Amino acid sequence: MKAVRTFAYGVMAGFFVSIGGTAFLSIENRVVAALFFTTGLFAISNYGFNLFTGKVCYLLDNGPGYLWDLALIWLGNLGGTLIATALLGLTRVHPALAETAAPLVAAKAKAGQFIILRVDADGERIPLTISSADTENGTITVIFQKVGATTMALDQLQEGDCLHDFVGPLGEPTHVEGYGRVAALGGGLGCAIALPVAKALHEAGNQVDLIGGFKTKDIVILEEEMGQACTDLHICTDDGTYGYHGFVTGKLEELIQSGVKFDHVFAIGPLMMMKFACKLTKQYEIPTTVSMNPIMIDGTGMCGGCRLTVGGEVKFACVDGPDFDGHQVDFDEVIARNATYRDFETKAREDHLCRLGGGALNG
Ligand code: FES
Repeated sequence: MKAVRTFAYGVMAGFFVSIGGTAFLSIENRVVAALFFTTGLFAISNYGFNLFTGKVCYLLDNGPGYLWDLALIWLGNLGGTLIATALLGLTRVHPALAETAAPLVAAKAKAGQFIILRVDADGERIPLTISSADTENGTITVIFQKVGATTMALDQLQEGDCLHDFVGPLGEPTHVEGYGRVAALGGGLGCAIALPVAKALHEAGNQVDLIGGFKTKDIVILEEEMGQACTDLHICTDDGTYGYHGFVTGKLEELIQSGVKFDHVFAIGPLMMMKFACKLTKQYEIPTTVSMNPIMIDGTGMCGGCRLTVGGEVKFACVDGPDFDGHQVDFDEVIARNATYRDFETKAREDHLCRLGGGALNG
């Protein structure tokens, strides 16, 4: 009986800590995450107290069999973690990679182009950049991060499942020939887009410095692939846990000040990163291309959702872009437009998480 209770307590601790820790990292509802996390830690600390001091807290007496108890707790923690993973599918905080069969798209895809997909009939259409295309197997790869309801739903698809619809390749390919020495800046998930662009630039004979920025070492992605796609790879982390300590713009400026002469810069990633990269390159008079990611719906120039202003003219990112002269883009306008649906997105994500929770609880 004691062994069963020990194991059950371990399961409880592992379950709550897993859900709390993961939710804390991957969703905005920090209060819920903290509650789960605290409950798990409470369970663990009670055990520690019980085992190592001999005092009875909640459940067990201490005894010579404490190593056996520890093993049971560990097994319980493992079981609880696995249950949390299976039920909620929330433990992966790294960006996910999805490969899908699309021979016609793979045959035509070029660096910088994207696809638009819908997971189900009622779902929103989301644009995702083509990370790589395998013409032999007729597949394309996209990399996405679970930040909203649609990407969470996409993450739940299993091998063999189908997307509801899928269109591409869309947008104009990135121009890659004849620059000389270039810097390609990738911010976070933007590295998944910077990778094929850097690769194409490199294959076209340019000398490429690929500068990839991440919040912290644990979420560095595609390092090996990026290393093979450029002349020099520079990894940066905001917290200094790996590579250069600071933002990609800091590393770019460091290289420029050390005497490197860049003929062109490509900035790909969050709007703020691209905005500040352009501010910097304007100061050094380096032509800069940015890959714009405004809200998109149809992807064919009909709906106007991806409208932005470039050099005082209205452009549509889906058909005129996604690449534009960064020094001409009105970033403040795009940032404001992209924030328009934030409340709806937050609600959709919370509804999706509720459905996951409800489904799990109802078995
Ligand atoms: Fe509709 Fe570009 S997505 S016009």
